[in-house]
Amino acid sequence: MELHITKSGENTLYIPSMDETYHSRNGAISESKHVFLEQGINRTQGDIHILEIGFGTGLNALLASQEAKVQNRKIAYHTLEPFPVPNDLLIELNYGLLLKDEDLFKKIHDTKWESNEPITSNFTIHKTTQKLEDINLNESQYDVIFFDAFAPKKQPKLWAKGVFTKLFKSLKNNGILTTYSAAGQLKRDLRSIGFRLEHPAGANGKREMTVAIKTPTL
Ligand SMILES: C[S@@+](CC[C@H](N)C(=O)[O-])C[C@H]1O[C@@H](n2cnc3c(N)ncnc32)[C@H](O)[C@@H]1O
Repeated sequence: MELHITKSGENTLYIPSMDETYHSRNGAISESKHVFLEQGINRTQGDIHILEIGFGTGLNALLASQEAKVQNRKIAYHTLEPFPVPNDLLIELNYGLLLKDEDLFKKIHDTKWESNEPITSNFTIHKTTQKLEDINLNESQYDVIFFDAFAPKKQPKLWAKGVFTKLFKSLKNNGILTTYSAAGQLKRDLRSIGFRLEHPAGANGKREMTVAIKTPTL
């Protein structure tokens, strides 16, 4: 993987063999804030448990930990990443400096994998190298899922209906799954599993994204 500069001037990562970036080519921080903070965390109240698919650069984790502090809420953050980003690239990304929290960004990355680790008084993280398709998830444990896998066309097996059925079960009632994608097959699958869908505008001028809500059936 290599560095790629988005249109807004921030770095992201690019995988040449997949022709895929880790964030929107129009802007990484603006996309993460919109899809995962505004359409994820900010739709909830109180202390929450988040599951992230694809820890990657740790940008979403950094923003979530900052948000926990600003909103004075506690966030327990569980994140999956079978292919951790090498340290030299993490440094070059510069997200800690850009978001004025270098120590926090470093602590999130330096902390142990495979166990629940306190980062601040508001934020704990559990990083695991387990793959989404392999992991067993307890039922009704998450309030929010950040679904941030590579695009459906690039990694279709992560967007399979069976995967979303597992994620549906792992959400609490009224829990939400938020993702940048608004692909037709994704929407059909989510609806048939039982999610109620909303389609706010996406980040950086994208027409639409997807918020899927586990609405309890009567
Ligand atoms: C779009 S990037 C994630 C961006 C990340 N949230 C960030 O802020 O940098 C997708 C991530 O999913 C990870 N991934 C790939 N295969 C996976 C799998 N089978 N299960 C979970 N994550 C996977 C990739 O390594 C990559 O880091």
